[in-house]
Amino acid sequence: MSSNKLIATAKANTNIALIKYWGKRDEKLFLPMNSSLSITLNNFHTITTVEFREELKEDKLIWNQAPGSAKELMKISSFLDIIRKEAGASLYANVITENHVPTAAGFASSASGYAALAAAATKAIGLDLSPEGLSKIARQGSGSACRSIYGGFVEWQKGCLEDGSDSFARQILDEKAWNVTILSVMVTAGQKKVSSREGMKRTVESSPFYQGWLDTVGEDMEAAKKAIRNRDFEFLGAVLEGNALKMHATMLGAKPPIIYWESGTLEVIHRIQDLRQEGILTFFTIDAGPNVKVLCEPKNEDKVKQALMGLRSVQKVISCNPGEGVKYLSEHLIEWT
Ligand code: DP6
Repeated sequence: MSSNKLIATAKANTNIALIKYWGKRDEKLFLPMNSSLSITLNNFHTITTVEFREELKEDKLIWNQAPGSAKELMKISSFLDIIRKEAGASLYANVITENHVPTAAGFASSASGYAALAAAATKAIGLDLSPEGLSKIARQGSGSACRSIYGGFVEWQKGCLEDGSDSFARQILDEKAWNVTILSVMVTAGQKKVSSREGMKRTVESSPFYQGWLDTVGEDMEAAKKAIRNRDFEFLGAVLEGNALKMHATMLGAKPPIIYWESGTLEVIHRIQDLRQEGILTFFTIDAGPNVKVLCEPKNEDKVKQALMGLRSVQKVISCNPGEGVKYLSEHLIEWT
């Protein structure tokens, strides 16, 4: 490979929010109404290679070894436009991406997807960005992607400027600083009916409970950060569980209401509450879908896993731990000739 090739490959892990991002104040720039906090995970990731080439007349996309749909390509092209504009370049790109985030796991593959794409494309085009700069670019593909730039415990500061220049993520603790177990509990393989993008929009526009969310999420952020600083698992668990329930409560008030939970979701919630009664510290969080993510201390992982696997509606439990941030790979998924 000659040195002037405009190609780069990046790997990004997905993340799970402990304090949720729910609602945008600017949909075009992906500016959130509230700050959020997440753990980057070690088990689910996306690898993306981007190569800008002079002879291309349009962007091209290979997604999981097959040509990407027109809709996917359009989304990716408009995201690349942001990067082209930043770099003052007009070249089109070949994008090849491998997604190792099973949709059924209930994790947004958009977080790892846009983090990997942002990292690969900015590097390929020659932009030398700080992690903050990269986080701001990734944010404009999918909000939660701005957190996947970093490993471990990550905070996305909502910012207040209209141009979004102060809305980016930063690391609170790296992935080695505090080990916790995150179990992805699959209660259904079904596709969700309302995307998180649509769900948050409808909630902001129509839920009378949304103001309650905005009034209290700042306190949740502060409490969670304090718990993380003190490695206080019990305190963190109580805050994250309350925050997830509150987010879902805002959706119940939306018009029409959004209910992501299924009967299996409730079965898991009740089992987690029972486990606590039995003296095992474990907590749940739920995103815009029916599957549940369960947090516990590594010493209790086997017990919690076993208890969940015993439930009728649980299909699969996958364990994760805190994982690293975006990383460049020297091997590319493909090299076009
Ligand atoms: C419930 O980041 O997928 O998972 O910015 O519209 O792409 P867009 O939304 P997305 O929303 C994530 C919502 C959430 C909470 C979170 O991850 O903070």
